[in-house]
Amino acid sequence: MKKKVFMYGLCLLGTLCTLSAKEKKGQLLYKDAKVPVEQRVEDLLSRMTLEEKVLQLNQYTLGRNTNVNNIGEAVKEIPAEIGSLIYFDRTPNLRNHMQKKAVEESRLGIPVLFGYDAIHGFRTIYPISLGQACSWNPELVEQACAVSAQEARMSGVDWTFSPMIDVARDPRWGRVAEGYGEDPYTNGVFAAASVRGYQGDDLSAEDRIAACLKHYVGYGASEAGRDYVYTEISGQTLWDTYLLPYEMGVKAGAATLMSSFNDISGVPGSANHYIMTEVLKERWGHEGFIVSDWGAIEQLKNQGLAATKKEAAMRAFNAGLEMDMMSHAYDRHLQELVEEGKVSMAQIDESVRRVLRLKFRLGLFERPYTPLTTEKERFFRPQSRATAGELAAESMVLLKNANGVLPLTNVKKIAVVGPMAKNGWDLLGSWCGHGKDTDVEMLYNGLAAEFKDKAELRYAAGCKQDGDDRSGFAEAVEAARWSDVVVLCLGEKMTWSGENASRSTIALPTIQEALAVALKEAGKPIVLVLSNGRPLELNRLEPICDAMLEIWQPGINGARPTAGILSGRINPSGKLAITFPYSTGQIPIYYNRRKSGRGHQGFYKDITSDPLYPFGHGLSYTEFTYGAITPSVTTLKRGEKLTVEVVVTNTGSRDGMETVHWFIADPYCSITRPVKELKHFEKQDIKAGESKTFRFDIDPEHDLSFVNGDGKRFLESGEYHILVKDQKMKIELLN
Ligand code: BGC
Repeated sequence: MKKKVFMYGLCLLGTLCTLSAKEKKGQLLYKDAKVPVEQRVEDLLSRMTLEEKVLQLNQYTLGRNTNVNNIGEAVKEIPAEIGSLIYFDRTPNLRNHMQKKAVEESRLGIPVLFGYDAIHGFRTIYPISLGQACSWNPELVEQACAVSAQEARMSGVDWTFSPMIDVARDPRWGRVAEGYGEDPYTNGVFAAASVRGYQGDDLSAEDRIAACLKHYVGYGASEAGRDYVYTEISGQTLWDTYLLPYEMGVKAGAATLMSSFNDISGVPGSANHYIMTEVLKERWGHEGFIVSDWGAIEQLKNQGLAATKKEAAMRAFNAGLEMDMMSHAYDRHLQELVEEGKVSMAQIDESVRRVLRLKFRLGLFERPYTPLTTEKERFFRPQSRATAGELAAESMVLLKNANGVLPLTNVKKIAVVGPMAKNGWDLLGSWCGHGKDTDVEMLYNGLAAEFKDKAELRYAAGCKQDGDDRSGFAEAVEAARWSDVVVLCLGEKMTWSGENASRSTIALPTIQEALAVALKEAGKPIVLVLSNGRPLELNRLEPICDAMLEIWQPGINGARPTAGILSGRINPSGKLAITFPYSTGQIPIYYNRRKSGRGHQGFYKDITSDPLYPFGHGLSYTEFTYGAITPSVTTLKRGEKLTVEVVVTNTGSRDGMETVHWFIADPYCSITRPVKELKHFEKQDIKAGESKTFRFDIDPEHDLSFVNGDGKRFLESGEYHILVKDQKMKIELLN
């Protein structure tokens, strides 16, 4: 701490000395791009009034808001000194107009930071994050985020409120679509990949934007899957499950974080000193800032933590929350709170410092305006479309393929049935940025292009996604009778998942299941194509369908990959990053649960206690045979490392891609551990007949250790298990 103060002192001294020299020449130090960022920050800070400082800590909106959950104020009179704006437009013009006001009309000319929810694409919409995780391909996710960054930055957005890395184990919660599934490590790996994709190596580049890890922390534990409610999280689970992805995202360099709405054991995320200050800033050394979720400060009143907005502002700010998104709590009360001595000037300075630091890093002082370009120059570059398609293809999970019904190599007549077949809009998924349904290729069109000259297609919607109008069933059954195979496209509306979109059951509406039952009467094989934003309850559909392909909400370019998998042009390689329960009543169900006191008892009386499809499930058109796990050593001392390898051979007749998941289990420990925990994964191309080696370098300090309820790490001697697929290997760590 002392060292830090000394450094700041030096910095300030440096600033002041250079200052006089520069200022003589008429140039303000903070405006000089050649001066190091920290000096520029200090110089600017030293010139700011309290009022100017406070405004930097606020975020309003600009443009038309399309998020129905957050119909905010219509911002007419935005102060030129505002810190940040959520930018709802998709052209640079409005931004530049506002920026001109900030740069030219404010005393110090501090540019505004423009943020937006570019969640799975800005205009080129790619699969929802839950789907992305099933690709197990972080490089591809990084590329997709880079596309999003390019489109956003060129449209006037400097900062995205993404990635969302809330571990979610209750698929009733609509926001399960937005994260990377049920596993903490998986969320962490994709957090890091997204951060790299958005931010690159240089935030000031004209095709990069700042990332924001959200919602810090524990939002995914929302009780019963209802949104915005209480979360019950023990210290142990907080560290084991919810904090890990954030730690990984922070290590990857995420510029900012967003605080969560949820109440964690009596202290909501947005007023939680432990989480925001002790953990994030003091232990992890994060130098960026935290923005509140929309209205989260004001909501502290509803949660019963503060009686007034002023008190809410004080609690949030003193806990370490730098920027107020849309509560108007900081702009109205921070100055007064400083004057009353309830908020310190030092903390105001530290918060402003963090906001300014990002503005300098983004190059906003040098290039506050976004160059004017045409939509054609900004959106849908050929490589962007290709990336969206590749990611969609790798996200898709072949859940079932009985009797080799897929691929459809010898069919001449295909009935394409269901409410999702000619539906572009819902394939986009929630939080689809500036995506439009007209950008999306519909499944029917993708199939028509794929099977052109090979098979004849006949279409019948059959029914809508919900309701009970069965008048279209007869036409659908007739098409099925005519066909060699039925491709049945069922799924969810985009509004059924995402924010404020919980469902009490994860089954598809009865009408869609009834359509499948009716089609079965035609006696033709049924290939079910599912598009949805959460795991579904499929136990009634599964026996009716010969094959099932989960395509998630794949974005604009999901139709060709779907058709390509059905035709066999593409060999599916996705694997589930989240468990598909047998039924809603099994929730919560996830692979890394803790052990039961009676493993042989405690099962449901009425249904199986196993999920329908476990974490990691996903079929291919080829066969992969695993050799034995080979360790470099089986006994090791503290300080030593080991390597484990497994050779996987493609014993089938098609080239394919395989993901190997490496799990660790600690059978006996002073704190009970999950049955197994994912610690590493790798995906490789393996040609037919070829073998590839997969390797996991294990550092016991990192991979075998565990944390306690305060994040302290321990490594105990004894037995550990390394698990791959159905193999288990023991190793021993000596004292
Ligand atoms: C959501 C956030 C989002 C913010 C801004 C909130 O309601 O919870 O995920 O980033 O709005 O749109």
